[in-house]
Amino acid sequence: MKGQQTVMELQNVSFAFTNASRGEYESMIIGGVSFSAKEGEFVSIIGPSGCGKSTLLRIMAGLVAARSGKVRYYGNEIKGPTEGISFVFQDVALLPWLTNVENVKLGLSFSDLDEEKQEQTANALLEKFGLSGFEHSYPNSLSGGMRQRVGIARAIASEPKVLLMDEPFSALDALTAGSLRADIVYMLKNKNISVSSVILVTHNVEEAVELSDSIIVLSDRPSRIKEIIKVDLPYPRNKRSRKFVDLTDEVYGLLTD
Ligand SMILES: Nc1ncnc2c1ncn2[C@@H]1O[C@H](COP(=O)(O)OP(=O)(O)OP(=O)(O)O)[C@@H](O)[C@H]1O
Ligand SMILES: [Mg+2]
Repeated sequence: MKGQQTVMELQNVSFAFTNASRGEYESMIIGGVSFSAKEGEFVSIIGPSGCGKSTLLRIMAGLVAARSGKVRYYGNEIKGPTEGISFVFQDVALLPWLTNVENVKLGLSFSDLDEEKQEQTANALLEKFGLSGFEHSYPNSLSGGMRQRVGIARAIASEPKVLLMDEPFSALDALTAGSLRADIVYMLKNKNISVSSVILVTHNVEEAVELSDSIIVLSDRPSRIKEIIKVDLPYPRNKRSRKFVDLTDEVYGLLTD
C-alpha cells in the first residue's frame, strides 16, 4: 500500500507578502521551492527562522495560496483545504471548552460516520495514544505532551494520507518528545495506518536526522533549497553512530555557512 507513488509535489513554489500601506511593495518570503514526497517517506524542512517554513506548510495544506508555482497531491493541484491532508500545529490548538474526546471528534466533522461510530473511533484513538481515562476531561487538565497527543489523534482521526507537522515537539520535554517521535515513525512505517507521508517543519537538526528519509535545507529568505540530504539509515536510529553524527554535522554546516 505504501509504495513509491508521489504523494505531494511542489513545483517552483514562491510566496510574498504585499504591504498595502507601502503601495505595491512585495516582500519575498519563499523564492521558489521544488521537492516531492513519496509514499512511506518522512520529509523534514529545516531552515533559518523567518524563512517561510510555516508558510510553506500552510501552502501545502491549502490554507494559503502560493504566489506562483504549483502544489500537487496525487497529481491534482491543491486549491484549498484537501481531504487526505491533515495539519498538526505547534501550539496544538485544542478547543478548551470541549472534552478531549470531543476535540478528537472535530477531526471527523466531515466524515460520513454516524455519531456513535465517531465516538468509538475517537475513543479508540485516545486509547492508542495512552489517554484512556481522559476522554471526558478537558484539555487544561492534561500535560503539554498529552495535549499534543490529543492534537495528533485529532489530525489522524480522518485517516489522512499526509500529515503536515509544524514544530510539533518543540514545546515538549525531551522524554515526551522522544516517545511521540517514535509514535509518528511507527505510524508512517506501519501499513495498517493510513498516513503515507509525513512532512515536518523543525528547528532541531538531530530530530530531522533521527526521523527523516530526506531533509530539505532552506536558505534565508527569500528561501530556496540549499540542499536535500538523504538519510539512508534503519529505524530506530543510533544517534552515536558515525553516519548519524556526520549527517548532523553536514546539516549544521549547511545552516550556518
Ligand atoms: N502578515 C504578514 N505580513 C508580512 N509579513 C509576514 C506576515 N506574516 C509573516 N510574515 C513574515 O513572513 C516570514 C515567514 O514567516 P514564517 O512563519 O513562514 O517563517 P518560519 O520559517 O516558519 O519562521 P520560524 O522558524 O520562526 O517559525 C517571516 O519573516 C515573517 O516576518
Ligand atoms: Mg514557523
